[in-house]
Amino acid sequence: MNKTLIIKKTAEYAKKILEGEGSGHDWWHVYRVWQIAKEIGKTEKADMFVVELAALLHDIADYKLHGGDEEIGPKTAEKWLKKLSVEKKSSDQVVDIIRNINFKGAKVKHDIKALEGKIVFDADKLDAMGAIGIARTFAFGGHMDREIYNPNVKPYLHKSFEEYKNGKSHTINHFYEKLLLLKNIMHTKTAKKIAKRRHKYMEEYLEKFYKEWEGKE
Ligand code: ADP
Ligand code: NI
Repeated sequence: MNKTLIIKKTAEYAKKILEGEGSGHDWWHVYRVWQIAKEIGKTEKADMFVVELAALLHDIADYKLHGGDEEIGPKTAEKWLKKLSVEKKSSDQVVDIIRNINFKGAKVKHDIKALEGKIVFDADKLDAMGAIGIARTFAFGGHMDREIYNPNVKPYLHKSFEEYKNGKSHTINHFYEKLLLLKNIMHTKTAKKIAKRRHKYMEEYLEKFYKEWEGKE
């Protein structure tokens, strides 16, 4: 099977599995990550076959939505790539990217070595920022039965992935625990530029949010 067909079939597979998902990890999230990864890749010398496959499969089975099982994502992707007879070298690269793509906490270092991994990480994190990032965060918060905001509960910068995974704060805190930190952990030049704009928009959003909370706007 040629590479174009493998990507097409993988997009169809991701769409079938994730269509209609309500927590913000749906097919359209994957679609956006795929598109922006291609955009970022234009100015990088990366293996775009690996980038596209990893973008398409990165949320095929998220640990948060599968009882905390962190291996289910990489395993599901590996099985799919084997079914399509994707050569082992590319498949291993894709699976490795998926294994390391999760945000792990404010004070945890994200150590991604391969350029292809950096591109997909940046693309995924860009979709957690800006107007779409805000929408996804509240969708996820509602899905997990979280309060929108509670002024009595302050943000906490998690020191380990374990702590981050078990956090149960309100959704506004998620901005401080993750979203506002993303612009500083982008790897590629293109993503850094886009992240700057999206970051500014989130700051403006929060400013309005607090004003409205106190009936001041
Ligand atoms: P990543 O793919 O970076 O590991 P996640 O899958 O944890 O990120 O989260 C993707 C998006 O889901 C976040 O950017 C956010 O919008 C939402 N989300 C995840 N965890 C939370 C949370 N605790 N509260 C609110 N939204 C969350
Ligand atoms: Ni994602």
